[in-house]
Amino acid sequence: MTSASLTQTHDSIRAVQWCGDYLRLLDQRLLPAEEQWLDCHDAEAVTQAIQDLAVRGAPAIGIAAAWGVVLAAQRGTHLDQALAQLRAARPTAVNLMWALDRMKARIDAGADAAALEREAQAIQDEDLAANRHMGELGAALIEPGSSVMTHCNTGSLATSGYGTALGVIRAGVTAGRILHVYAGETRPWQQGARLTMWELVRDGIPAKLIADSAASHLMKAGEVKWVIVGADRIAANGDTANKIGTYQLAIAARHHGVKFMVVAPSSTVDMATASGDDIEIELRDAAELLSVAGRRTVIEGAQAWNPVFDVTPASLIDAIVTERGVIEQPSAERMRAVFAA
Ligand code: MRU
Repeated sequence: MTSASLTQTHDSIRAVQWCGDYLRLLDQRLLPAEEQWLDCHDAEAVTQAIQDLAVRGAPAIGIAAAWGVVLAAQRGTHLDQALAQLRAARPTAVNLMWALDRMKARIDAGADAAALEREAQAIQDEDLAANRHMGELGAALIEPGSSVMTHCNTGSLATSGYGTALGVIRAGVTAGRILHVYAGETRPWQQGARLTMWELVRDGIPAKLIADSAASHLMKAGEVKWVIVGADRIAANGDTANKIGTYQLAIAARHHGVKFMVVAPSSTVDMATASGDDIEIELRDAAELLSVAGRRTVIEGAQAWNPVFDVTPASLIDAIVTERGVIEQPSAERMRAVFAA
């Protein structure tokens, strides 16, 4: 696709780029102030980029990790060690483990560096195709002329491109179903303010930023018909781990009669995890809460608790959209019907 046609479909950003013998990542820590690329030449650098959130978002970290395995193979690094390091980079998004399991299966089958490169490219390409398909499926659920709300960043930056929840929003805007988007700022790291607004403004999608704490007020005013979010891991019963703050949005949405949609590729579905109670929630450094843009905002000596994901129970979700289809009112039985091996 040319960059002109990417722009016409509100889709101009590709943040994970394979360059033949290194991985180029748009450094998300610096956006929106600076558009700087980070070049990773080995698996350690990719692991570090995932841990430090230079690359983030469930599908994007899986894709980056797959390229990390290719770099390890190209450089003759011990592959089991690279796989273990990459796997431990972050705990909640299952796409990371899914992509590494897929690469490991190819290694066990005797794949060389060139074959691993083809596998990583397939993982990246399949993600983009899934996003476009989910965009169409999710947008079809939205009544024309609606406004919607989203949380965190689920767009091109968080995936191979186009996005999951933001893919539905891109498709919905292109089809005239979505008129306006409200994005929560997503404290503490501010993925909504720093990244989602950057994507929406760049791609010409009408959007307003709101404070996370303004969401219930927005819903009460009848301003939005759907809350549309991504996911980091969907358990076998439909419980969904996503960015901290998602759960309270689902509660508020149900209270106000606003529909709640989760959009994620099948690589985010973890049928080996029975329910959300079994999902490990990443705790990050308290410093992320105690400072804003690197500047301390809280009295020295104060402590903070910083879980960066929460679990929304399936009972609060109206639809889970995957590339395999839409699961309305998700339950263990409905999930099994689509995802049983
Ligand atoms: O900590 P992050 O920024 O990696 O968390 C990202 C999210 O929670 C996204 O909403 C989720 O990964 C879905 S992205 C398509």
